[in-house]
Amino acid sequence: MYADAWPLTQRNPGTAVGDDELGNDATERFINTSLTIALHDLSLVKKDILSRLRTTVAQIINISFFYVLVNKLMLCYARRMSGAQSIHNFVIIAHIDHGKSTLADRMLELTHTVERRRMQAQLLDSMELERERGITIKLQPVRMQWRDATLNLIDTPGHVDFQYEVSRSLQAVEGAVLLVDATQGIQAQTIANLYLALAQNLVIIPVINKIDLPAARPEAVRAELVSLLGVKTGDILAVSAKTGEGVPELLDAIAERVPAAKGPAYAPAKGGASAGKPASALRALIFDSYYDDYKGVVAYVRVVNGSMRRGDALTFMGTKAEDKAIEVGVFTPEFLPTDTLSAGQIGYVATGLKDVKEARVGDTITHSGQAESEALPGFAIVQPKVFAGLFPASGDQYHQLRDSLSKLQLSDASLTVQPEQNEALGQGFRCGFLGILHLDIVQERLRREWEIPLVVTVPSVRYRVRLRDGAEKEVHTPAEWPEGSQIELVLEQLVTAEVLTPTAHMGAVFEVLKQHEGELRAQEVLGDERMLLKFSLPLRELVVDLNDQLKSATAGYASLSYEVGEWCEADVVKLTVLINHVPHEALSHIVPRQAAESAGRRLVGKLRAVLPRQLFAVPLQAAVGGTIVARETLPAMRKDVTAHLYGGDVTRKRKLLEKQKKGKKRLAQQAVIDIPPTVFLDLFRR
Ligand code: GTP
Repeated sequence: MYADAWPLTQRNPGTAVGDDELGNDATERFINTSLTIALHDLSLVKKDILSRLRTTVAQIINISFFYVLVNKLMLCYARRMSGAQSIHNFVIIAHIDHGKSTLADRMLELTHTVERRRMQAQLLDSMELERERGITIKLQPVRMQWRDATLNLIDTPGHVDFQYEVSRSLQAVEGAVLLVDATQGIQAQTIANLYLALAQNLVIIPVINKIDLPAARPEAVRAELVSLLGVKTGDILAVSAKTGEGVPELLDAIAERVPAAKGPAYAPAKGGASAGKPASALRALIFDSYYDDYKGVVAYVRVVNGSMRRGDALTFMGTKAEDKAIEVGVFTPEFLPTDTLSAGQIGYVATGLKDVKEARVGDTITHSGQAESEALPGFAIVQPKVFAGLFPASGDQYHQLRDSLSKLQLSDASLTVQPEQNEALGQGFRCGFLGILHLDIVQERLRREWEIPLVVTVPSVRYRVRLRDGAEKEVHTPAEWPEGSQIELVLEQLVTAEVLTPTAHMGAVFEVLKQHEGELRAQEVLGDERMLLKFSLPLRELVVDLNDQLKSATAGYASLSYEVGEWCEADVVKLTVLINHVPHEALSHIVPRQAAESAGRRLVGKLRAVLPRQLFAVPLQAAVGGTIVARETLPAMRKDVTAHLYGGDVTRKRKLLEKQKKGKKRLAQQAVIDIPPTVFLDLFRR
């Protein structure tokens, strides 16, 4: 700057000048110098102000950042200390094998809920059978911590047999992760559960799983989801439950999109914790329950209003049972006792009750004496849909079977058991199940856990029979079926079956459903190459093996879900099987009238193949009322009574054969044919 000023004052330094000129020149130089200095000072001041300003702004930013940080930390700490973190309750709904349990494993890992060394595949599927078959049978909740939110996950069974349990766990949450396999796309069960979730007004987070697989087609599945849910493509998340890719983003989405459960309504008491009074009357929804040898019946609950504490006197509003809360707590996924369970939380309460039927799924728990409480909606006692006789393969295991069934019943309120006597199979039990998978699971558990070989009779459904004298009776077994002449009307349950199939397999689906009396009610296009077909058919047709037949006819691509509907008139008859002219109730069936003949033929044909031969020929017949509709003959065992003859008169040979014939006839008249249990095993093996 100074260097720039000097040239002004030293302009023409070698020129001769006068006094005036000298005076002017000095003045000019003085002005110039002052101006330069002033300018220089001004720029210095400006520079100083700017630098101070910069420092101040930086300080302000630093302070506010620090303030925000401290505030956030304090808020976090305060929330954690008060337990008032935002709680987000959700379920994962998916078709069987779409990766629900595997995704839950990744979530447990990422949220450090389970230590890595204790982690094993499908951690929430705690039963051996669940792991082996890769299915979820029992509901399993778990609490997780993700950033500053508490996430409560309920891992639900995906199968249609357990639809009521699923619907109750949906009532216990605010959001649902709709998980779809990227290789298979949306399946019938996904849609059935989605409708249940929408009926509960849940926030749905659509997620595509298994994106790591080479066969994954996420774009096609995305398009299906968009057309099914009407969501934006950007709202659909993609994850690999196996590798963990995308799972942190999913946890973030759950914390953001699933509305926080309404906070604790427990008014902290002044003057001692025990004096605390619920701000509103306690209402807790039971979404599962089981029996524990030490704690009695343990109910899994979602507290909707108020709070419950250890020692509180509780009433089960639906069943009217009363008991104390021996222990309350949360799932980590193990039981972790806590002081209180407050509104919004998911946890358990050990009740001391001895029978799981007193703490049924869907019931509401309240404090004893709180008459103003109104039960939560949706409670129903689920009725068994499928019935079958369970008999021990050897008679001496009857008591063992009785004990094991009562143990199973302790934790499975939907299993019904009644003693049954059968002339061929001896003493056993007629059991009611929620569906074929439920039946399968029970018999498998009996075989594994109690090592009881079983004979299981053909599954049947319930019928309502109106008699000519005006009485109406509910019939579960062919043995209870009234005489044909007494029957005025028979009613049976219909189902609405939804079949989701690639369009290429539609023909096969129609063929199978036609064989099972299915009538098409509606069809819908889903995505580019799949159809959703709705059929109405009798429940009796569905319980046999419709699902297996559909799977084999469509190379496994079609999937089935159903909903039991109204009762309607049925044209069914009792098909009785006679062996050597003696009816055998254990082999009787209820069949549609027009299919009686073919069913009878099939049955006697099968019997002929599996019954051991007798010394005489045994007629095997199938009859409806007094009419024989099918017949086979079980040939006699042949003994060559003429073997010792060596030539001689032919009359001698004839005489011996005649004698043998008479002997066999006499035997046949007197004989009671004993059917060994192994025959039933072969006949009914599924
Ligand atoms: P249910 O309990 O019967 O309803 O099944 P689920 O939906 O819990 O399925 P599960 O987690 O048992 O997974 C089924 C199979 O898919 C298992 O063999 C898993 O290892 C596999 N699987 C799950 N997620 C993924 C994934 O992201 N990628 C791959 N490659 N395999 C997966």
